[in-house]
Parts: sequence; structure tokens; C-alpha cells
Amino acid sequence: MEKRIKVGIIGTGGIARAHVSAYRKLPFVDIVAVADVIPGKARQFAEANGLTEAAAFDSHTELLAYDLDAVSICTPNASHHRTSIDSLRAGKQVLLEKPMSVTLEEAVEMTQAARETGNMLSIGFQPRYDPNMKRLQEIVQSGRLGKVYYVETGGGRRRGMPGGTFIRKDLAGAGAMADIGCYSLDLALNALGYPRPLTVSAFTSNHFGTNPLYHPEADRFEVEDFGVAMVRFENDVVLQFKISWAMHMDSLGATLFLGTDAGLKVTPAGTGPWSGVWDGSIGSMTVYHDAFGGHTETRVPLIEHSLNLFDEKVRDFAEAVRDGRPAPIPGEQILIQQAIIDGVLRSAEQRREVSVELPQ
Ligand SMILES: NC(=O)c1ccc[n+]([C@@H]2O[C@H](COP(=O)([O-])OP(=O)(O)OC[C@H]3O[C@@H](n4cnc5c(N)ncnc54)[C@H](O)[C@@H]3O)[C@@H](O)[C@H]2O)c1
Repeated sequence: MEKRIKVGIIGTGGIARAHVSAYRKLPFVDIVAVADVIPGKARQFAEANGLTEAAAFDSHTELLAYDLDAVSICTPNASHHRTSIDSLRAGKQVLLEKPMSVTLEEAVEMTQAARETGNMLSIGFQPRYDPNMKRLQEIVQSGRLGKVYYVETGGGRRRGMPGGTFIRKDLAGAGAMADIGCYSLDLALNALGYPRPLTVSAFTSNHFGTNPLYHPEADRFEVEDFGVAMVRFENDVVLQFKISWAMHMDSLGATLFLGTDAGLKVTPAGTGPWSGVWDGSIGSMTVYHDAFGGHTETRVPLIEHSLNLFDEKVRDFAEAVRDGRPAPIPGEQILIQQAIIDGVLRSAEQRREVSVELPQ
């Protein structure tokens, strides 16, 4: 008989629904418990989503006392640290929504908890399941571009500012940098093989979020809606990273990899004011090569697919739990981009370049 796994959901807001829908497609998974800090919300969520058999709790600690193999953590960013450490220590395998944490210190503690307990901490970056992400990584790591010395990534939404828990410093920790910047960082760093960052020089602002002309919750807007950073890595690569939730511009440009033998331009799929950001699939990849006697532009054929990337990330995690495989997207790796986001916030606040101290 096929091994079954029991899953719980911590945080029953918007994205929790996508986790439920994805788990439901897996015949070997039972969603047996849900929890939310708002009293009664988990029970309502269970009823609204047809999880009538599931136990509902008003705190994640009560849920963790339940017989479960794994949890999906779908709480706002600032509580990722506490909920994931408690879950790992309670013996559960963890699928944690992005971004991993708010500060580097938190990410380090979370990684240590995963190591000490031997339980997995996997971070939910669904764009990784676009097969073209793998192709991009192969091109960059194949040496076809020569030595990659400069990368530019980010992009941004023309009009795409969230509200609610996403704009409160105590809950979200950071704004656009953490919310969508983490995707661009993962795209670039995954292709580069997650090199170690050394320094960050950054600037952030919130001209749109705090202006009632542009945001209905302007008086409660506490995070950045724009950010730009220059990140220096140990292997003589620099990354320029920029992100916006709103701007008077259609796009902040493509992702560029400049190498000594060739360059690669990558654009996101999708159009419209919410697009131009790496929270979906890859739209195009083109390799440029210039030399005396001519230049070439070669379109990399994309791998056609009809995958639902979100469902794929949940499936991969659930199968890893069932089969005893390691974390599909380990916290240990994502710690590196958390160090960059942490550096961005520190640098912007101190208005100077800061060092990034990563533990060995
Ligand atoms: N991967 C994606 O595509 C994607 C999309 C949207 C959001 N997210 C991420 O998912 C997370 C949640 O986002 P959302 O849109 O669902 O937010 P949300 O505000 O709609 O829901 C969060 C829920 O968590 C609850 N909560 C807060 N602290 C808790 C705790 N300690 N224990 C239990 N419940 C707690 C809140 O009461 C709320 O119901 C964020 O980190 C966000 O970045 C990921």
C-alpha cells in the first residue's frame, strides 16, 4: 500500500488556499489540521475549504502537538522564524512560504534547527519548477558565457502594491525587497550557483505606498516599495538588483548576465501592470555574442510546458516527505539571499555600504 502523509497548515490566509488546493491533487496526502492566530479563523477556513475532518487550532503550538508528518507555513514573513523552528523541533518536515525570514540572524537559527533535528526546511519558490529555470542555470554554468562578471536582475511591478499584512513592518519585516525581490534574487543566484556575498550598498524608498493618491492604506504603510542594491560577491561577480511594487515606468528591464564570451538576456513571461517580475515563468532567453566581423543574437528555444508551478512545488515537497528525500529547496541555500536582503535593509538604513557576514 502506498505510504500516506499527514499535513498541517499554519496560517490560513490567502496563500494557504493554494497549498490546500495543491495537496488535494495528491492522493497520498491528508490535510488533517489547520491553525491561525486569529481566534476562530482556522475553523472558518477549514469549513470554507471543505476540510471538515481537519482539526482547527488558534495557535501553531497546539497544532504541532498533533500527529503530523509535515506542515506548510503560510504566515506573514515576521513569524516564519518562530513557526518554522517550533515545527522542526516538534519533529515536522517544513515547507515554508517565501521569503525565508526577515533577518539573517533568523535564517541562521532556522537553518541550525533543521540541521540539529535532521528535519527538512524547504523554501517555497515555485518559479524553480519552470523547466526553463534549469535551462538558464545550465547555460550560465556550462561556461558558454565565459566568466560571468556582472548580473542585473529585479524588474518590478508598474502597479502592484499589496496591503494588509504585507505593508506592516512588524508582520512583513520588509516590503518589495522581501516580497518579490526574493524571486529575482533566486533566479540570478540559482543560475550562478549561489556564490557568497561580501558587501551590499542599497537605497530604498516608499514614495508610492505612503501617498494616498496611490495606496488606500497610505497612513499604515511602513515598508519600502522600491529598492536598488549593488551586491559584490567573493568570485569577482557583481549584481545589480532593483525592485518596485509601483512606479511610473513599464518595466525595470530584463535580467542580464554579462560574461567574457557571451551575454544572456532573460525576460519574464506575462504582460500587464502586475508582470515584469520574477514570480512566474520565464518568457524568453537570448544569447548575445559580439566580435570583430560580426555579432549574433541566438534565441534559446524555451521548453514548452503546462505545469502549474505552485502545484509542482507542493508536490515535490510532499513526495520528498513521503520518500525521505532531502529538502527540495533547502533553507541552507536560501540563507544566502536572506543575507543579501538583510544587507539591503541595513545599508539603506545606514546610507552606506555594509559587509555581509555569513556563518561558515
Ligand atoms: N509563493 C507565493 O506565490 C506566495 C504568494 C503570496 C504570499 N506568499 C507568502 O505567504 C505568506 C503569507 O501570505 P498571505 O498572502 O497568505 O498572507 P495573509 O495575511 O493573507 O495570511 C497570513 C495568515 O497567517 C496568520 N498568522 C499570523 N501569524 C501566525 C502564527 N504565528 N501562527 C498561525 N497563523 C498566523 C494570520 O492571522 C493570517 O490569517 C507570506 O510570507 C507571503 O510572502 C507566497
